[in-house]
Amino acid sequence: MPKKTVESLDVKGKRVLIRVDFNVPMDGTGIGDDRRIRAAIPTIKSVIERGGRAILMSHLGRPKGEGFEETFTLVPVGVRLSELLGRPVAFPSHDCVDADAANAVAQMDDGDVLLLENLRFHPGEKGADLQFANKLAAMGDAYVNDAFGSCHRLDASMVALPTAMGAKPRVVGLLVEKELGFLSEALKDPARPFVVVLGGAKVSDKIGAIERLLPRADAVLIGGAMAYTFVKALGKNVGKSRVEEDRVKDARRMIEQAANTGVELHLPTDHVCSTAFTEDAGDIEVFDDEIKDGYMGLDIGPKTQIQFASVISKAKTVVWNGPMGVFEWAPFRVGTKMVGTAIADATDSGAITIVGGGDSAAAVDEFKLADRMSHVSTGGGASLQMLEGRPFKAIELIEDE
Ligand code: 3PG
Repeated sequence: MPKKTVESLDVKGKRVLIRVDFNVPMDGTGIGDDRRIRAAIPTIKSVIERGGRAILMSHLGRPKGEGFEETFTLVPVGVRLSELLGRPVAFPSHDCVDADAANAVAQMDDGDVLLLENLRFHPGEKGADLQFANKLAAMGDAYVNDAFGSCHRLDASMVALPTAMGAKPRVVGLLVEKELGFLSEALKDPARPFVVVLGGAKVSDKIGAIERLLPRADAVLIGGAMAYTFVKALGKNVGKSRVEEDRVKDARRMIEQAANTGVELHLPTDHVCSTAFTEDAGDIEVFDDEIKDGYMGLDIGPKTQIQFASVISKAKTVVWNGPMGVFEWAPFRVGTKMVGTAIADATDSGAITIVGGGDSAAAVDEFKLADRMSHVSTGGGASLQMLEGRPFKAIELIEDE
């Protein structure tokens, strides 16, 4: 069911509480990647340019929930946001719901922007506490959920707060609208061939997505460490590659399901391996088919790269979640780069291409491919939950259009 968006709100003179996801990577000196901040700009502008007062709420990291912690302050985020908006961003206090915060909100003028301190400094946020949510609700006349990256969470600002708003408007922001649009359209009625590329470390994280997507896709390509559980299920030697023994049975079942339903399931047929999980072990070998004892697979091999790229080149819709190898390390990045480039080329040829957040989004950034994808999601866990077809409680609480 389509949801009401921020654009339907009459915001003039209103205090608009906007839940954003400014949970950005910090690299010691500052913000490592400001993509999530930039992604929130259209909603913030939609409010302030129409005379609304934007009160932004976010978490950052996983503080203890026992008050202010310097490491997790949102101050650097506020500074970056102010640069991006080209206007001041007020930053009231160490506590997002104390009297200082409430006073700062009371003093806002139309068109002002204020960023509350990290919601997770307060125990009520992770505790999904209604009293905490009531305090936040009292500061606003309307609620906007633009925190796609957190939509799978049940934190107070995502679930208790829209409930606490009572009869006041509850809408989605433009980022959430865009993310839901891309991810749900791709799954509802994809242009075919529909190719799903899954990777990453753990098969257990992706089982739900594979089960949902197998009957919908024309081809599923599996790489990353999770592929070795499947390769083992085929009865092949995987050396000391990472395998989730308790998932081998599931992998076998999915291989059989694909065979019975005519879906192409592509697994790596060759592997870039090393004897140790380090960047510079110095003993890198490529094995065809079976991996020698003592070695572990850390990237898909050259034949697999070509095969995966060939399947992707025919696709009209591609969904990608999870890298093909340890792309952070030079010797094991080629598989992920080849797959990313093949997906970018598919976009150029007219395919709709969607990259899940988290590691695959980091990979497309690293390989400078982000601009060549139809959509790069800002949500890792959230986009995965959408691929699994599990609804978000946070979105159910938003008003229908
Ligand atoms: C994310 O980065 O996935 C979201 O911001 C949620 O953060 P969390 O995993 O700490 O709840």
